[in-house]
Amino acid sequence: MEKLIITQPDDWHLHVRTGAILKTVIPHTARQFSRAVIMPNLKSPVTTVAQAENYRQEIIQAIPKGLDFTPLMTLYLTDSTTTSEVEKAAESPHVYAFKLYPAGATTNSDSGVSKLDLIYHVLETMQEHDIPLLIHGEVTEAKYDIFDREKIFLDKVLAGIIKNFPELRIVFEHATTREAVQFVTEASEQLAATITPQHLMFNRNAILAGGIKPHYYCLPIIKRETHRQALIEAATGGNKKFFLGTDSAPHLQHLKENSCGCAGCYSAHAAIELYAEIFDRAEKLDKLEAFASFNGADFYRLPRNTDKIMIQKATWRIPDNYQVENNFLIPLRAGEDLTWRLMN
Ligand code: NCD
Ligand code: ZN
Ligand code: ZN
Repeated sequence: MEKLIITQPDDWHLHVRTGAILKTVIPHTARQFSRAVIMPNLKSPVTTVAQAENYRQEIIQAIPKGLDFTPLMTLYLTDSTTTSEVEKAAESPHVYAFKLYPAGATTNSDSGVSKLDLIYHVLETMQEHDIPLLIHGEVTEAKYDIFDREKIFLDKVLAGIIKNFPELRIVFEHATTREAVQFVTEASEQLAATITPQHLMFNRNAILAGGIKPHYYCLPIIKRETHRQALIEAATGGNKKFFLGTDSAPHLQHLKENSCGCAGCYSAHAAIELYAEIFDRAEKLDKLEAFASFNGADFYRLPRNTDKIMIQKATWRIPDNYQVENNFLIPLRAGEDLTWRLMN
């Protein structure tokens, strides 16, 4: 049987929510990953170091006994984030980055930044303290087509941030377009990007062809096939600027299967296995370890993991759902066979 042994991976973009959902999803992530960057977009966002400390405690309580897992906390930028909060974050051993959500861009982004000028002094302090900026990169004005929002953000917003803060380390989160891949590739070493399994696996037909499929709806929305191919090339091409970030974003079934369904795909149940299948199909399994286990740690200037995991080529069926109290979570590829399996 075909086997792959790689250094234990990390997830550089993860949503775990709170309460019952958190208790369901943390074991899925902790079974595979050593560390994960925890996104701060709770209903009441994590905007201070004190809130991040509390949230971190809740996460730690949910880690199954015997598993070693470290949540890397982030803070949510708002119009009123202060430079003194940045200084506190710089001193905190648990906070690793700030996240920029343009107001209205995605799930729980209402308290995000409404005008970038308002936080320029904050970005300056982040640059001084060498704290990375993580970006949900989409313009939000209603006049822009939803399929163009990422591409337009690159020139209209990201280029300006880079010009003004050339030393600031930036992660362009969940890159979804050929243009984003090109932009990141051509930029300085300070700019990197995460890539999700759903954007590597699917094009927009998954959402819209043969009936509307809300479990494939996430933001930035999955694009057409040429973009998926560019993402595959980026992820499997050995460029250290690209690394694994699942953007696993759990929403309960009834909130996805809804006349106004939430944005987000849940993938933590099988994340490394989904990526293994993607890299196998591209005949680039030899590039999986750098993408999943080295590039992100190197960018964040954290030590690489030393434990190993084993993934086998073996078919298994993804469950139809996971129960969360009286509700369900529908995982990516629910009820379908996957060709790689994590052995542990
Ligand atoms: C994420 C969520 O649900 O929190 N949703 C998504 O579609 N990706 C938010 C985000 O990462 O933009
Ligand atoms: Zn996002
Ligand atoms: Zn996300």
